[in-house]
Amino acid sequence: MITCRRAAFAAALGLFTVVCVITANAASPESHPPEPHPWMNTSLSFDQRADLVLKEMTLDEKIDLMHGQGMPGWSRPMPRTYLGNQGAGFILGIPRLGIPQVEMSDAAYGVRMSAQNGRYSTALPANIAAAASWDPEAACEYGALIGRELRAQGYNMTLGGGVNLTREPRNGRTFEYQGEDPLLAGTLVGNRIKCEQAQHVIGDIKHYVMNDQENGRDEVDVIIGKRAMQETDLLAFHIGIGVGDPAAVMCSYNSVNGEYACQNTYTLTDVLKQDWQFKGFVLSDWGGTHSTVKASAAGLDHEEPMDDFYGEKLKQAVEAGKVPMAQLDDHVHRILRSMFQAGLFDYPTQKSVVDVEGGLAISRRLAEQSIVLLKNTGGLLPLDRNTVHSIAVIGPHADTGMISGGGSAQVDPPGEPAAPWQAHVWFPTSPLKAVSAAGPGIKVQFGSGAEPASAAALARQSDVAIVFAYEWMSEGTDLPSLSLPENQDALIEQVAAANPRTIVVLETGTAVLMPWIDKVGGVLEAWYAGSKGADAVANVLFGSVNPGAKLPMTFPLSERDLPHPDLIKPPNGGEDAGAAVKPEDAKATFSVHYDEGLKVGYKWYDAENKPVLFPFGYGLSYTTYQYSDLKVVAGKEPTVNFTVKNTGGRAGAEIAEVYVALPAAADEPPKRLAGWSKVQLNPGESKQIRLQINPRELSIYDDSSNGWKQLPGAYTFMVGGSSKDLPLHQEINLP
Ligand code: BGC
Repeated sequence: MITCRRAAFAAALGLFTVVCVITANAASPESHPPEPHPWMNTSLSFDQRADLVLKEMTLDEKIDLMHGQGMPGWSRPMPRTYLGNQGAGFILGIPRLGIPQVEMSDAAYGVRMSAQNGRYSTALPANIAAAASWDPEAACEYGALIGRELRAQGYNMTLGGGVNLTREPRNGRTFEYQGEDPLLAGTLVGNRIKCEQAQHVIGDIKHYVMNDQENGRDEVDVIIGKRAMQETDLLAFHIGIGVGDPAAVMCSYNSVNGEYACQNTYTLTDVLKQDWQFKGFVLSDWGGTHSTVKASAAGLDHEEPMDDFYGEKLKQAVEAGKVPMAQLDDHVHRILRSMFQAGLFDYPTQKSVVDVEGGLAISRRLAEQSIVLLKNTGGLLPLDRNTVHSIAVIGPHADTGMISGGGSAQVDPPGEPAAPWQAHVWFPTSPLKAVSAAGPGIKVQFGSGAEPASAAALARQSDVAIVFAYEWMSEGTDLPSLSLPENQDALIEQVAAANPRTIVVLETGTAVLMPWIDKVGGVLEAWYAGSKGADAVANVLFGSVNPGAKLPMTFPLSERDLPHPDLIKPPNGGEDAGAAVKPEDAKATFSVHYDEGLKVGYKWYDAENKPVLFPFGYGLSYTTYQYSDLKVVAGKEPTVNFTVKNTGGRAGAEIAEVYVALPAAADEPPKRLAGWSKVQLNPGESKQIRLQINPRELSIYDDSSNGWKQLPGAYTFMVGGSSKDLPLHQEINLP
């Protein structure tokens, strides 16, 4: 209704101005704000709210929630792709019912695709680096930052949270994952997801499951026994889901024991939805859906990024009774429930400006906690500003930047155009500048290393040489080997021959072989160190940060020592050739037999008595620690008590590790990680640690009963600073 009146102040001036106010007519139906939908009642459970929405939905609306709307640049355009936030995919909102759009973005170590969308993202250290911190609180901070930046950029769902175990260290996505141990990886990914989801973005854990190599990922059939799968890769997911309660699980491209992971009844329904009681929804990896009726029955709830199987074909299947309405409703219920759980209805996204400086500070701090000191001969590190007068900084890009991990994990560096698929992206964090800034007064010179002889000459004239060596990795391709590429081994050899006070800083996403290890004075594993990597490295080199990180994966001596010395490739030898096959025609063309079974990572080297270059859980500090007074108290959840003392001259954080050997009858590898504690200690300080061990860490999966069981017998607990340095042992009997 429009009402007009003469304004009083105008009347006072003898003028008559007509002021018209548009108000809602009290008598008309639109006069009241619309009644909120009943599902907006936050005192109802997520399930109740989801059911209330579901009751109102038409078949077409339900189907709309079950598929994506295309991804910019994906195979064929879809008519509504432009309606999205230009991320990896989205679920169309339904304004009639107030159902918000679900906007998804990749966000492994930061939000993807920011450059092409005129946005900005912080690059955190890679996920494998974050795992090296062994720190659930740091994982939480990592997830919270990504969650905030997703929201600021208009997204409300992450596609981060990779937790495939490192069975094959040449896997091109190793940097996106959390290492080789299910307890460590699952705990860290869970904490990351928990805090990411607390920012009101749907959390996602991926790639479920056994997607442990990139070679032929669309056409490989992974063959593995049930027990081995349950105790390794599935366990990492189970722990991650238990801790983080992600609202989504992304099923993977590969096939598992004869069936594609996105239509695999065993993994999706029997394990995930029934045994683990997962209440969220399963979405396919991009193009990983292969059927309609079969996938729906097996437990796939949502197809990305398009509607090849879950659009018109799904509608027809429902109308023909091939997909029962109850099954369809379960899929839709799960998607709606997830939206309620993550807060998408209650906290609509509002774009804002990312906190750039805050993000850089967090990224630097997390990188400092992720850098592993692998070698330090004669206390060469930390560098002493009083005695070091000249430094040679050597490496292909050591003057300008540090390498980052590629593929869908790629974060765009600020001020640079969008990185093409699988480009080598160097983040503008300059080692040369950072080392110069950390050592004022020290003569710092740069050599690219393009000519090893001149790099060696520079090293010879310098008190210390620091070689920044790198290995780029990406989704879609595996590393041909674990050796540093581009002649970098020869470069390091020559520099070290010229100056034994050579420190190698590794920028890698996985283990590397180090034929020069005996010739160099120091080695830091800096991983892909993120937006502020160089500052973090310089802070460790000069000792303003005492390194405390430890390896989340074994560094082997040789590829011959791996469970599969040669990468197993598709028959045509091509990498990822299956991507070219039409999804409905796709079938596995080759198998990878994970016949090492339970023996993943350190469990393999332990069981096979193979020496390694650096063991799982290893990392040095600028101080030293001593372990004593182990006392294990038996019980349903045994408690492991011990003391750690800082016996050196600097404050530090020690990751104290607890392993357990199961009774012989369990037929397990020699030991498994059962817990850890990160202890902050001043010089001379001791702390008593008390760790309660979850019975799961003492149990084995029993194929015959399809469940976990703990065997009676002798359990040996071992405590120390790495999987190969466990000075404390105690055996207890458990019923
Ligand atoms: C990757 C996923 C990613 C998706 C969307 C796929 O190729 O495997 O990890 O989330 O693309 O970009």
